[in-house]
Amino acid sequence: MSSPLRSPEGVWWNGKTSSTERWWVGLSVLTAVILFGWMIGWQKLGAQNPTGPTYRVDPEQFQAAIQAYKEQARQTDEGLVPPGQDVYIGARQWNWDGLPVVLEVGKQYRIRLSSYDVQHGFGLHRRDKMIEQFNLQVLPDYEWVVPIEFKHPGIYDVQCNEFCGVGHRIMHGQIVVKPGRDEP
Ligand code: CUA
Repeated sequence: MSSPLRSPEGVWWNGKTSSTERWWVGLSVLTAVILFGWMIGWQKLGAQNPTGPTYRVDPEQFQAAIQAYKEQARQTDEGLVPPGQDVYIGARQWNWDGLPVVLEVGKQYRIRLSSYDVQHGFGLHRRDKMIEQFNLQVLPDYEWVVPIEFKHPGIYDVQCNEFCGVGHRIMHGQIVVKPGRDEP
């Protein structure tokens, strides 16, 4: 089949690149370098939330740690009240082990996330303010320790944001955030 485009003549690939073309290549490289620097700079200067460390963990070990944590936590009608800073949350098909949990405004917590089976997504958003939300991936064999402090009281919904099987859409949980004890 013949092409409607005329092929360039001679040894075109060995010819000199035009200066306009070189400018464009230079500009593209410069833009890429600036964006790359911006990505690193924004992480440092943009007051981003710290993402926290991750550790290797055996799913069974993690499940045992959650069990021990739940035994120490205080059971209330609204959910578990953690004994200290650590808040264990285990993802499994298809619910969140350790939720609902009751936390306090202005207190530093460490959310300790892992999965018992497959990959899940920890999506957290404030019920009356959808714009405030974040998403974290939850993987088996890894424990992610996420530092978190809630600034507003309210109900925060947790939903799975990674397709994890037939029950994915019902994989919900809740974090209830109460005003701190020092507040009026
Ligand atoms: Cu868990 Cu989708």
